[in-house]
Amino acid sequence: MISLDDWPCAAVRNADLGSRTTLRVGGTAPLLLEPGDPEELRKAVVWVREHGHELRILGGGANLIIADGEVPGPVIATDRIRRAFRYVPFEMRMDLGTSKEEEEADPFVEVQPRQHFPESEPAPRLVAWAGASMPGLVGMAKRLGWSGLEGLAGVPGSIGGGVAMNAGGSWGDLWDVIERVRVVDESGEFRDLMRAECQPSYRNGNLGGAVVAGVVLEFEQSHPKVVDEEVRRYLLHKRQVQPVTEQSAGCVFKNPDPELSGGKSAGQLVDEAGLKGRRKGGAQVSEKHGNFVVNTGGATATEVLALIDEVRDEVASRSGVALEREVKFWGG
Ligand code: EPU
Repeated sequence: MISLDDWPCAAVRNADLGSRTTLRVGGTAPLLLEPGDPEELRKAVVWVREHGHELRILGGGANLIIADGEVPGPVIATDRIRRAFRYVPFEMRMDLGTSKEEEEADPFVEVQPRQHFPESEPAPRLVAWAGASMPGLVGMAKRLGWSGLEGLAGVPGSIGGGVAMNAGGSWGDLWDVIERVRVVDESGEFRDLMRAECQPSYRNGNLGGAVVAGVVLEFEQSHPKVVDEEVRRYLLHKRQVQPVTEQSAGCVFKNPDPELSGGKSAGQLVDEAGLKGRRKGGAQVSEKHGNFVVNTGGATATEVLALIDEVRDEVASRSGVALEREVKFWGG
């Protein structure tokens, strides 16, 4: 039983979770903690661990299937921690800075620059707290004319989730544009990890038990028109090959090792097994792309999971390739 008296931040009981995911399936959380800034997130993480619960962090609800019924513990939602702003270099913060002050200047704290930003920045950077939306960041970079995130156009979810799972595609990975990540570490303290200290891999930020509180993203100076064209190009391609207007959790399976699959992607294997359009209740393998399961209306998590198992089994028996689920699952 979760006690009422010592919640670390704003919270609601018996919160609906399905409506907070892009697939729109799943039940409720006995308690939804809603920190409003990184420090409250840190406190919430410590609180959940101290009470002996598993950590469940809900960002933008993409790439996630939540079981029907009640998840067995509290959930921390990051959607109130969504600030994103331009990084202000130290020399633009201070009139006269000492190296000690420079070391202590916290990039995650939003400050007003002392002068206008130059038209062309040598090292353009954005700071984003964990709940900032990826589409929002793509839009910000586009307006500033900064290149680096164009490939993420059309990818839903929050930056915290994107970093934890190393969102990506044929263009590269989100981690390619990360300068540093601020995490709440295993001991419940903030720690800044520079890109070079981390070993992100395919669809995995490899952060262990650390929780993303914020990131600093690095860009190349370009021009709004050029970035806009790139974004449009990605969106157009995406619309052609993926069911972007339907409710889904994104790609269900990881692409298999090309040596084991003869270079075939997960979507292609599902397609060749003749499984596009296969249904279970309201859940359906997308007609457009074999690696998506869409909620055609009123699907349950049970239906979605049964369909995924069926697809995995049929692909294995037809092609001999064991597909591994990419999408995360929170059991009931
Ligand atoms: N294909 C088929 N049939 C299908 C789907 C695909 O034959 O039903 C073929 C395509 O024609 C293509 C190949 O399979 O030759 C690869 O397909 P696609 O270009 O759509 O890319 P993908 O490997 O299926 C990956 C990421 C996507 C990302 C896209 C675009 C994974 C598992 N998927 O998809 O990421 O959007 O590249 O960059 O890595 C996600 O992670 O949720 C996701 C959707």
